[in-house]
Amino acid sequence: TTVEWEAESYDMGGHDTYMHKEIHEQVDAVDRVLRGRIDDRFSTVRLGGLNLDAREARGVRRVKILGCGSAYHTGLIGAQLIEELARIPADAEPASEFRYRNPVVDPDTLYIAVSQSGETYDTLAAVQELKRKGARVLGVVNVVGSAIARETDGGVYVHAGPEVCVVSTKCFTNTAVAFALLALHLGRIRDLSVADGKRIIAGLRKLPEQIAEVLSGEEEIKELAAEYANAKSMMFVGRVRGYPVAREASLKLKEVSYVHAEAYPASELKHGPLALIEPEVPTVAVLPDDDLLEKNRATLEEIKARSGRILAVAHREQEKADHTIVVPRNEVELDPILMGIPLQLLAYHTALALGRDIDKPRNLAKSVTVE
Ligand code: AGP
Repeated sequence: TTVEWEAESYDMGGHDTYMHKEIHEQVDAVDRVLRGRIDDRFSTVRLGGLNLDAREARGVRRVKILGCGSAYHTGLIGAQLIEELARIPADAEPASEFRYRNPVVDPDTLYIAVSQSGETYDTLAAVQELKRKGARVLGVVNVVGSAIARETDGGVYVHAGPEVCVVSTKCFTNTAVAFALLALHLGRIRDLSVADGKRIIAGLRKLPEQIAEVLSGEEEIKELAAEYANAKSMMFVGRVRGYPVAREASLKLKEVSYVHAEAYPASELKHGPLALIEPEVPTVAVLPDDDLLEKNRATLEEIKARSGRILAVAHREQEKADHTIVVPRNEVELDPILMGIPLQLLAYHTALALGRDIDKPRNLAKSVTVE
């Protein structure tokens, strides 16, 4: 399906900033990326522009996802989804690194370039280098007809609508959902069962109302932001599914509030960054209710033992945390998509409390179209 952007207005629609407007547009945006794509008959999705038939999809031995900044972080989520649902080895790398390191280009690898604007120079250069070496490259892109959309062999449009704020919110979420669709599609061509296909589809359909539920908790998040806004620095941690969420939340906070933040896999804390923990350096911990929850709880104990304050994002109250933002449960594979949303609000309200220029943070441009 093609979605006309003209249908969406560029005015602020009663919001004070585009960032706030775009955070709240996520309910409709996610609905849009799903629209017309679910195929209940075969418990899969149909992706019209993919340009990859079933035989070719079965021949893919590896997936490599390339993007910059938030797009790279959605790639980390996408790689996990593809490994989990399609059981194809997958990883993500900053396009800006990939293009400079003379990568080995493998004919059995499917390359995927991710970009909101479709114009980011580093990502475009990576695509051009791959094409020159004969690779198959798909795009997961928001802007229809953009340079990356044109140069790739096919792909999935993200349909988030225009994103004006420099800081990406709705496009991040929609791109993660687009990756879930691609992973489901690849999975159902391979070994993902009908039952699992149905389960993921039901989870995807629940996302818009669950996003609305998360957004209805904004007042509480605003209060938390006021409490943490004066932190010297913030630590963001997560394990496996929670880690890309922590990475993105840390970037979001830095970009819009200028509060220094670090993101680490929770398991890496003890290998060094634990030295930073003190009351002025709170930790945001992302704790999905998966088989790593107990390990994550042990991490909270390690932080508490060093007098660290903890803000948890979880599906139920966490005893060890000073505060918990409770997010509704979906399917474990899709939980990271929901868990990022309250942390967008946290970044927004921190920036607001600190009087920042929210839609145009200093030193940043919406798309980096130069080297
Ligand atoms: C997002 O909040 C950032 N402004 C930035 O990291 C962005 O995601 C990156 O520059 C890539 O942009 P793109 O998605 O348009 O390629």
